[in-house]
Amino acid sequence: MTSFDALPTPAVLVNRDKVAANIHRMQATCSAHGVELRPHIKTHKMVAVARMQLAAGARGLTCAKLGEAEAMLPSGVREMFIAHSLVDPGKAPRLAALAAQLDDLRVGVTSEGQMEALSRVAAATGRKLNVMLAVDTGLNREGVRSDEAAVKLATLLARSAHLVLRGLYCHEGHFYGVDPATSADQAEAMISRLDQVRKSIDPQLAIWPGCSVTARVIAEHSAGRVQAVRPGAYMFGDLSLARTTGVMSPADVAVEILATVIDRPEPGLALIDAGSKTFSSDRTPLNLFGAAADGRDINVVRVNEEHGYLRGSEVDSLRIGDRIRLVPAHVCTVINLTDTVIVTDGQQAIGTWLVDARGRTQ
Ligand SMILES: Cc1ncc(COP(=O)(O)O)c(C=O)c1O
Repeated sequence: MTSFDALPTPAVLVNRDKVAANIHRMQATCSAHGVELRPHIKTHKMVAVARMQLAAGARGLTCAKLGEAEAMLPSGVREMFIAHSLVDPGKAPRLAALAAQLDDLRVGVTSEGQMEALSRVAAATGRKLNVMLAVDTGLNREGVRSDEAAVKLATLLARSAHLVLRGLYCHEGHFYGVDPATSADQAEAMISRLDQVRKSIDPQLAIWPGCSVTARVIAEHSAGRVQAVRPGAYMFGDLSLARTTGVMSPADVAVEILATVIDRPEPGLALIDAGSKTFSSDRTPLNLFGAAADGRDINVVRVNEEHGYLRGSEVDSLRIGDRIRLVPAHVCTVINLTDTVIVTDGQQAIGTWLVDARGRTQ
């Protein structure tokens, strides 16, 4: 056990008990409504956390990249979904090797053009690939833009020698900007639309939405229409989930950045030893990179690579050498910047976890 004062900074602290509680809470909601949980591992990238999710009852894991999926194999996972637009035939041997080690591997089909490229990848693997068809539900990123386009793509897939359509999926990331008062209604409208699209294609298809803002409300409204949800950030939390959208309590956020005040160049400003190489460049709609974890009005309002700028009405209470714990704006990009995280019991450091899939972007 090591006290926080003895840790070199900046350090990423992960409260083990809060992670476990967040995992169990989401799993309990999903299980109560008969919805599978297939968490996206892009947030944690850690075998240790994947093991906790699977032990709690997660049916499988979601990832963006082949490299992430490979890195998660030691967790014992049996079902994986690569929710991304795979097009490179050069990855076929790795994809075949991955499929051989799983009971079920699914890959995203995100447009007609991408489907043609993915067919060539599948042909090169020498095996049929299970696919999920991406429907854009408002993020305007990947996915068919209309219900008619979904039906057309499904018709093409039905003729494919290499791809087998198993379901529909989406990433409704635009809900991070939806008024929380209307998000339940909007989630219901989204489920109902996906259900209609499914009925026009094949009632046996699965529906797998995926976002930490909507996961709970979708499970609660599923009424048998949604088979799985794929949230990523829910078990760690950040300012986006605890403040911007309010879907989680600030007390449940499990990740903090421990930093040291390294200078006080002028009244009202403190500099810390954590900048964009720790917080990343992601910020909240209020332009905060981080905020004091203990609720004091002290915020990270600007970052350079190795400097964070703290401002707020309580910043003048800080002295050079003080330690401060800060909740980051966006946890996924923070974790990807570090090789290991410090595991804590809330009071002290009790170990480390490796970020196994760090940098596995290929
Ligand atoms: C395809 C996909 N699924 C699931 C998720 C998880 O969403 P969240 O970050 O809200 O947990 C993401 C996040 O970017 C995603 O891109």
